[in-house]
Amino acid sequence: MENLTKYFYIVTYGCQMNVHESEKLAGILNEQGYLPCENEKQADIIVFNTCCIRENAEDRAEGNIGALKKLKKQKKDLIIAVCGCMTQQKGYAEQLHKKFPFIDIIFGTHNLEDFKSLLQQKLSSKKKVISILEKETEIKENTPKFRTSFPNAWVNIMYGCNNFCTYCIVPYVRGRERSRKPENIINECKALINEGYKEITLLGQNVNSYGKDLGNTNFASLITEISNLDGDFRLRFMTNHPKDLTEDLIISLANSKKCCKSIHLPIQSGSNHILKLMNRRYTREDYLEEIKILRKYIPDIAITTDIMVGFPQETDEDFLDTFNLVKEVKYSGAFTFVYSKRKGTPAATMEGQMDEEISKERIMKLIDLQNSINREQSLSYNGKIIEILCEGYDDKKGKYLGRDTYGRMAYFSSNINLIGKFVNVLITETGGISLSGEIV
Ligand code: SAH
Ligand code: SF4
Ligand code: F3S
Repeated sequence: MENLTKYFYIVTYGCQMNVHESEKLAGILNEQGYLPCENEKQADIIVFNTCCIRENAEDRAEGNIGALKKLKKQKKDLIIAVCGCMTQQKGYAEQLHKKFPFIDIIFGTHNLEDFKSLLQQKLSSKKKVISILEKETEIKENTPKFRTSFPNAWVNIMYGCNNFCTYCIVPYVRGRERSRKPENIINECKALINEGYKEITLLGQNVNSYGKDLGNTNFASLITEISNLDGDFRLRFMTNHPKDLTEDLIISLANSKKCCKSIHLPIQSGSNHILKLMNRRYTREDYLEEIKILRKYIPDIAITTDIMVGFPQETDEDFLDTFNLVKEVKYSGAFTFVYSKRKGTPAATMEGQMDEEISKERIMKLIDLQNSINREQSLSYNGKIIEILCEGYDDKKGKYLGRDTYGRMAYFSSNINLIGKFVNVLITETGGISLSGEIV
């Protein structure tokens, strides 16, 4: 008998926002009767949810889309859809259609949640569907979600970005800041806690400016309200912008019984000259003062960051400022990037674009420094008992894994499935970033 079940496979690039948006795409497909499958070959529909933050993100997506040409020839009914930030760029959809004419559906970020009707359009007309909306639309509240990261649940609190950092494409492909109404966020969190989720991560490009467009609320009151919900769960959020992280908010964080003791606070550069060119709207001194306040209220808080090297005009001295700042702050983790020129952003036409070799040298120095800080911090865990939320099982290691409140990963053995449970682990081995130990 013919198997009538239809399967979907989604490939996601980019940030957590996209990871969660793929859960919405999966929710829409699931509601239409599609089930998830293990690989592209089994799929009746493949969706690429793309990113364009750096050139290599685009190259990877295009490479993987191109590789499907053969499969599409063998399997005529296979539907290939491409959406996300890459397709939202001006003129990009047409370009993509020309390059890969076998793509069936191309849509952007502003109509991601219209995927059901775009798919129906394709199925009924058999014609290619290319639909990009120029502007953001109103927030849609009832999109189904097929969540894949239990015991963590992603929750959007806002969309878009108003900051226009000069290197960044996000404001152009995600539109202006729009906040979800607090009651909708709270209701979603309540439902997730009732379903057994143990960690909620609030998402926004700059969560610290949450509510500015609504007028009667702000991020501090939102996290206070969520923290006051009944249940045994952890609260995380990302990303913070140093220009909007206030002392009031830090106090709310410190008073919250649910907020984890970690914060992601991207610095980008430690040089005032470069921060100005980046339009970040804070100085090195402002940032270091904020770190001081964070540590005043939450002395053991783990701070992570994003850093970019090779921004136009970055001199050796500018880089040294970044290097020394990393040394001083002692981050618990740092995502480091080489600046990538994005068409249409102000930085793309700035004088003094950097030589890639110099950028590579600089990023290696930073990575080495951060690795040594990580090793030092890991060592301090030796012999300690930490509370871990078990979030998965690593087949290769044959061990369960999870993170502590600081976001540090630890592995441990167990004969029973502990995913979604809080466990105490005695740390006995401290390697690079991750730790391992035994349940006590
Ligand atoms: N809204 C978040 C980050 C979004 S993008 C924030 O403001 O922190 C994630 C990271 O990608 C940024 O923090 C930045 O370090 C990096 N990034 C953004 N644009 C980039 C570019 N053109 N080249 C290299 N890295 C970039
Ligand atoms: Fe990009 Fe800056 Fe907005 Fe972050 S805050 S998304 S880096 S423009
Ligand atoms: Fe990439 Fe878009 Fe996120 S450009 S980093 S997927 S907002």
